[in-house]
Amino acid sequence: MSHLNNITIKIWRQSGPADSGRFESHLIDEISDEASFLELLDILNETLIESGLEAIAFDHDCREGICGTCSLMIDGRAHGPERGTATCQLHMRKFSSGDTIVVEPWRAKAFPIIKDLMVDRAPLDRIIESGGFITAETGGAPDANLIPIPKPVADASMDAAECIGCGACVAACPNGAANLFTGAKMSHLNLLPQGQAERFKRAEAMVETMDEYFGSCTNHGECEAACPKSISIDVIAMMNADYLKSKFKNRKSLSR
Ligand code: FES
Repeated sequence: MSHLNNITIKIWRQSGPADSGRFESHLIDEISDEASFLELLDILNETLIESGLEAIAFDHDCREGICGTCSLMIDGRAHGPERGTATCQLHMRKFSSGDTIVVEPWRAKAFPIIKDLMVDRAPLDRIIESGGFITAETGGAPDANLIPIPKPVADASMDAAECIGCGACVAACPNGAANLFTGAKMSHLNLLPQGQAERFKRAEAMVETMDEYFGSCTNHGECEAACPKSISIDVIAMMNADYLKSKFKNRKSLSR
């Protein structure tokens, strides 16, 4: 284990939604290269509290790359410099002594700032509520392999299901679009037999809810690069195909 010295943290402070906000600089004299980025913020907060100052507000929960609550722009990149890694799994060994690290909240119109580094990601919940589920009686546990699913289909569905809903795709997109998130949440259900009954109702509802809150995708691909789970933009193509079909399928089912 070694240590990094003289790390300057230039961090966004904003007391609430009405405050215009500003950057604040703090020096961390010494930190282990094994510390996570969130531990760096913990240490900084302890120093602030000991000095009688207010701690920096930031979201975190599992600290294992599962829950999707951690959400920081680090040096202008969603979740920082390491590809396929959430902020909570980023370690200080990715930085060097003497670095200045700029830390900001997600910047997106759909995610208003609550305080400091915390943003309101409720519009992602609205998309899920509109169709990101299946409606089925659960009953008893079925036998394994009762519904055969080809392995490539199961793999594609599980890859999409890796989405942790952090919103990095929105923050990285120049248009503030949520197509990678919506495509992932829709595809993991629409690919499987269990998702077929509501497939086109789901596609129409989720895309149209997404459009109420977020910008439009123009194929920059920044979302895929920023995604901590490396979800492919293929899910956007699958979503677009299902949305287009939904306009025929749903009309047909209504006219029956
Ligand atoms: S804190 Fe849960 S994914 Fe980072």
